[in-house]
Amino acid sequence: MSSTLFRTKKVEQSILDTEEPEHALKKSLSALDLTVFGVGVIIGTGIFVLTGAVARNNAGPAVALAFVAAGVVCALAALCYAEFASTVPVAGSAYTFSYASLGELPAWIIGWDLVLEFALGTAVVAVGWSGYIASLMDNAGWQLPEALGTREGADGFGFDILAAALVLVLTAILVVGMKLSARVTSVVVAIKVTVVLVVIIAGAFFITGSNYDPFIPEPVPVEAGQNLDAPLIQLMFGWAPSNFGVMGIFTAASVVFFAFIGFDIVATAAEETKNPQRDMPRGILGSLFICTVLYVAVSIVVTGMQHYSQLSVDAPLADAFKATGHPWYAGFISFGAAVGLTTVCMILLLGQTRVFFAMSRDGLLPRFFSRVHPRFRTPHRPTILLGVLIAVLAGFTPLQELAALVNIGTLFAFVVVAISVIILRKTRPDLHRAFRTPWVPVLPIVSVLASLWLMLNLPAETWVRFAIWMAAGFVVYFLYGRSHSRLGRHEETTVEEVMKPERGNEG
Ligand code: ALA
Repeated sequence: MSSTLFRTKKVEQSILDTEEPEHALKKSLSALDLTVFGVGVIIGTGIFVLTGAVARNNAGPAVALAFVAAGVVCALAALCYAEFASTVPVAGSAYTFSYASLGELPAWIIGWDLVLEFALGTAVVAVGWSGYIASLMDNAGWQLPEALGTREGADGFGFDILAAALVLVLTAILVVGMKLSARVTSVVVAIKVTVVLVVIIAGAFFITGSNYDPFIPEPVPVEAGQNLDAPLIQLMFGWAPSNFGVMGIFTAASVVFFAFIGFDIVATAAEETKNPQRDMPRGILGSLFICTVLYVAVSIVVTGMQHYSQLSVDAPLADAFKATGHPWYAGFISFGAAVGLTTVCMILLLGQTRVFFAMSRDGLLPRFFSRVHPRFRTPHRPTILLGVLIAVLAGFTPLQELAALVNIGTLFAFVVVAISVIILRKTRPDLHRAFRTPWVPVLPIVSVLASLWLMLNLPAETWVRFAIWMAAGFVVYFLYGRSHSRLGRHEETTVEEVMKPERGNEG
């Protein structure tokens, strides 16, 4: 039994599968497209919304250090991701990578986990977007009925119609085609980066030095963490829970980690990349580096403009400008943030349909979902199914806890990917690796420990929810995936089955 649970899909097989004409995606992306793609999804709710709450409640001006800590964890993971993405250039990200190295059950677990990450991530960002749009509409004097504007409407039952509508429109764009969405993405990313640069450059002129004193506020004890809201690490070791101080920086890092989610999605587009061996590592590391620099700069500027205890939690970047008497900048920033969050939402949605697509192509989910659209060449079925589900989720669900769940799922994926790098080096040393993670196995081990550390700083409640989702995944795998797996049925594609001449025509 254990041999079937850990059966691995050969890397060559994964590549062959992508060449079956009926199940093939268009190869059209370059390194620059990937970087734009990465920046497009990375900068979002994390920097635009979470910065304020985290500075106020957990870290003070040292939120900048929390971004550095989260950025380091991501950089370590990125170095592992880049090796895998450049070795296994097929759709599915960590799912595909672990199928080739750890085996079917771990691959299923990670795929299931990634669907959670991307689906909830899409919902979180859609809700954030809806908040900005509502605030812009409010400026113009328009307001939605309460029951359609929030999830806690007048009578306690609300549906966020803006968030749901955004998800549905983006679903339609993705069904029509990748190239269209990549083009739209570039324009929106330009607007978003401009807004971030305006915050940094204009905001630098409105800094008051005394706001940085103290840079790392003294620890403030909070009520003993005996409930599920406390970070797991505090419950495990019985530490006196506190905010601020050095531990507060790590609590903050486990939250603002959300701001970096997305670079791993660049890896999910490997199959649609013209030269994945060269362009993948460039796209992943490039977008991550750009974002880290911008986040640190933004958080330093914003905590300098306004005392951390005064920062707003809904729109901290715009409100810091209002507080310093510059409402025109605030309007511009709100508008740019709303536009920018659109791409984040779209790319998260894209990443998740691609994972679902890859799992279906392998037979772990029904094959019905992996037939691409005859004209658009996109996996329209999972795109529509998941788009509708997420729209409902975004309409009804509050977001804070969802964000923590997204973080734990993503960090778990990082752990699996880092372990996979070490295993694949041992089991398949022969494979060509366009990008090699440095200092294996030390760097992947440090990456595992760093990701685990951030996971432990998340609330115990988040761990419980994550465990429930993963348990449900086990049930689905043993009831469906295991018996329908193409690998298990020996439905391997042979070289003769693959219509080689078609390959040259693509892209
Ligand atoms: N990193 C993305 C954001 O902050 C998901 O919204």
